[in-house]
Formats: sequence, structure tokens, C-alpha cells
Amino acid sequence: MSAVARTKRLSTPQIRDRKGQQPLVCLTAYTTQMARWLDPHVDLLLVGDSLGMVVYGFDSTLPVTLEMMIAHGAAVMRGAERACVIVDLPFGSYQESPEHAFRSAARVMAETGCSGVKLEGGAEMAETVRFLVQRGIPVCGHVGLMPQSVNVAGGFKAAGRSESEAQKVAQDADAVAKAGAFAVVLEGTLEPVAAAITASLPVPTIGIGASPACDGQILVSEDVFGLFSDFTPRFVKRYANLGAEISAAAEAYARDVRARTFPTLEHCFVPKTAK
Ligand code: KIV
Repeated sequence: MSAVARTKRLSTPQIRDRKGQQPLVCLTAYTTQMARWLDPHVDLLLVGDSLGMVVYGFDSTLPVTLEMMIAHGAAVMRGAERACVIVDLPFGSYQESPEHAFRSAARVMAETGCSGVKLEGGAEMAETVRFLVQRGIPVCGHVGLMPQSVNVAGGFKAAGRSESEAQKVAQDADAVAKAGAFAVVLEGTLEPVAAAITASLPVPTIGIGASPACDGQILVSEDVFGLFSDFTPRFVKRYANLGAEISAAAEAYARDVRARTFPTLEHCFVPKTAK
């Protein structure tokens, strides 16, 4: 990558410096083409492990591997020029120890060229966040509803509904921010909880189902554009219905093929005019 291309891309310190400024616009991307479409409009692209459900049809993010994240991370990097691209560390690739997390994160950084990684966890992951940041790996935290802990939580449940739960989310956010995270994703929590955390944290909060009180929002692109029909969270505003359009287009295509009414190669030739 040239020095010019490097300076054009938003860096993780620039994302951190947006605390309290213009809201951060963030979306997920898993492919080169999606990254190309979104890049001019967003500050940050997340190669989320949600790809396990959205792309691979798993019913949770747990089966996602490091190899999948690296392949999709590299694909997104080929399509994004100016957005800050970060890649999720998948389940099982970082929880065991800071050293294990470093080996996984270093592979992600080296093999994709992305700007940082995201990992789920609060106070219990603070030591790991610090270990990575001190060794040159920018980390985005992720607290509140943590999809990789779905089995412990007993489902995809909102976090922070009781006073003690709200305190736990706040303590988790504080712990990862103090450990050096450049931003913290707050998932599935109520507006007053998100507002209080956003007011107290020195780094941006990026909400998903956590209200406009955060310093920015991230959503799964397929939810936003109507490309994923299994389940759409209630807080998602849908800006397009591309899945329905694809289905209608496929139906029209099938009609053309069955009726033999699609263009032939001859349609592509411009007839030569006689001299
Ligand atoms: O995996 C994911 O897509 C996420 C969300 C924050 C969108 O972690």
C-alpha cells in the first residue's frame, strides 16, 4: 500500500478523537463489493463475526473460525479505501490467555492489513486488552449483550435492565476503556444506561440497540438493507428491501429462461453497415 493510501484511511486514533464530536457512522461488511459500496459513507467498517449467522447460516457466532475472519477481513480491505476497518476476534481465539489473544490478533492484523480488532468482554478481558494495545494492536471493546456468551446468558438478551446489571455494563465499559480500547461497542442496552456510560467514558461508545445517546452507531448491513430475513432486531431501521428485489429479479430471470426470451450473443453485435 502506498504512503498516500495510508494517510487517506481513518485511523483508530482518529476514531478515538471523535469522542463527543460528530457521531461515528459504522456498518458491518464481509465482502469486497459491500465494502466498496459502503466505504464512501462510513467512518468504520466492522468485519463482524455476525458473518457466521448472516453469510454461513449458523444459528450463533460460535462456529466462526479465525481463518474465516481472516479471509473476509482481507476481502473487505480490498474494497475499502478510507474507512477504518476492524475485524472481530472469533469465539475461542482470544479468551484463553493474553498470549493466545496476541497470536490470533497478530495473524488478523498481518494477514488482512486491517487497523484493529474487536473482542467481546468486560472486566475479565481488561488484562488482555492492555496486553494487545501495549504490543501494537488497537482494540475495540464490546460489552453489554455479548453474542459469544449466548450460552451463559441463556439467549440473546438485553443487558442492563436492572440496577445491578446496568452497573455491571458500566464497570465493564470502564475496565476496557482504562485498559486502552480506542472505542467500545455497547450492545443491547437501555438509553439511560448508554447515556451514563457515554458521558463517563473517555473513548467513543458505538451503540447497537443502545440508543442515539452513544457516540455512534453500528448495525449489521444485511439488516439495514433487507438482505437477511431470518431475524431483524426491533431497533433496526430498514433503509432498503434488497432481498425482496433479488427474489423478484430471480423470478423474472426464471420466466425469461423458461420462455427462451433472454438475449443471445447475436444481440451484442453491432451490424456492419454496407459501404
Ligand atoms: O459481529 C458483529 O457484527 C458485531 C456487531 C457489533 C454488529 O459485533
